[in-house]
Amino acid sequence: MTGNEARGATATGEKRIMILGTGGIAHRHAEHFTSIPGCRIVAACDVNAERARAFAQMHAIPEAFDSLERALEWGAFDAAVNSTPDGVHKATTLQLLAAGKAVFCEKPLAVNAEDAFEMVEAAEAAGVVNMVNLTYRNAHAIQMARRLIEAGEIGEVRHIEASYLQSWLSANHWGDWRTDERWLWRLSSAHGSKGVLGDIGIHIVDFVTFATGLDIAALQARLKTFDKAEGGALMGYTLDANDSCAMTVEMTNGALGVIHMSRTATGKANDLDLTIHGSKGAVKVWSNTTESTLQVCLGPDIETQTWQPYECPPTPRNADRFVIALLSGENGQPDFRRAAEVQTILDLCFVSDAEKRMLPVELPPAE
Ligand SMILES: NC(=O)c1ccc[n+]([C@@H]2O[C@H](COP(=O)([O-])OP(=O)(O)OC[C@H]3O[C@@H](n4cnc5c(N)ncnc54)[C@H](O)[C@@H]3O)[C@@H](O)[C@H]2O)c1
Repeated sequence: MTGNEARGATATGEKRIMILGTGGIAHRHAEHFTSIPGCRIVAACDVNAERARAFAQMHAIPEAFDSLERALEWGAFDAAVNSTPDGVHKATTLQLLAAGKAVFCEKPLAVNAEDAFEMVEAAEAAGVVNMVNLTYRNAHAIQMARRLIEAGEIGEVRHIEASYLQSWLSANHWGDWRTDERWLWRLSSAHGSKGVLGDIGIHIVDFVTFATGLDIAALQARLKTFDKAEGGALMGYTLDANDSCAMTVEMTNGALGVIHMSRTATGKANDLDLTIHGSKGAVKVWSNTTESTLQVCLGPDIETQTWQPYECPPTPRNADRFVIALLSGENGQPDFRRAAEVQTILDLCFVSDAEKRMLPVELPPAE
């Protein structure tokens, strides 16, 4: 390592990225970061040494490590993409931040809001770039919907319908969860899963609040865990994490909404649907992992309930924005604080379900 590299600069000024956790989603990160100018993937790290090595070989990454400690000892990277399981994000991210590394963390940031805000404080104290991969911000349609609402095109937001529906518990298009541990940890709270809420609820709550520019003021939630295996356990995993969630919300401007999500929505693979009805127009966003569409009902069309397709220009991905932030030194969105705020909503859903009542949302003030 040259002196320059140790201080965090390559000869070309490129930022050096390590991928931590080389399972399913890490392959998408390797593909994206390889294609973004201004950065280079220099290392891969996974507690499964064989997986780390195979991943590094597949993506032509020069270094592979079997522990974060060993990777940090080596230290020749500026930023890490943290794609470990949910329950591992906090400990590993705090280690990275303590070493002065920028972090692009997978969602959910942590397993509860308290832990998430501890990570916010650590990141802000370290003064490094900190972002969370709320993937559906990549959807061109959600960015355009936000711009239309911000410009007042639909008037006052009055009513919201939002859902994120998957069916990997009832169909095998992503593999069989009964035999594949990559899915089993998502069904077990002892393995750090917050169920469908932590897995995809975070995306749809972000979708709603980002598009409307409004926070949730109060919510009521029902959670359901279905019987899926004899004795409620499989391969050492207790299958107790929630599978479906239905919420009603009141937004800070008084608008009402329903937000629901499920892993057992047979007939839906991975669909986010969001309709926002305003006092003088409405927008309808649909997105999956790779595509999105926007339809609008505006102006005279509100008299005939006619919806028109609306063109949405391409928008930078979260990964692009992370590299831009690394190069400029200015934090990008969505950042840790934003993800911790969404986590507050998820935590409240558990309380609301247990107490069977509507609860007000109180967010800690920004520093
Ligand atoms: N943003 C999205 O749309 C999206 C999509 C899928 C997954 N995710 C998130 O990405 C994360 C990973 O999900 P996945 O499906 O790739 O899981 P996975 O189980 O396929 O991969 C996780 C990897 O992390 C490794 N790991 C565990 N502990 C580690 C540690 N301490 N240090 C280094 N490596 C460790 C595991 O060995 C495994 O290879 C999760 O937080 C998940 O919620 C996000």
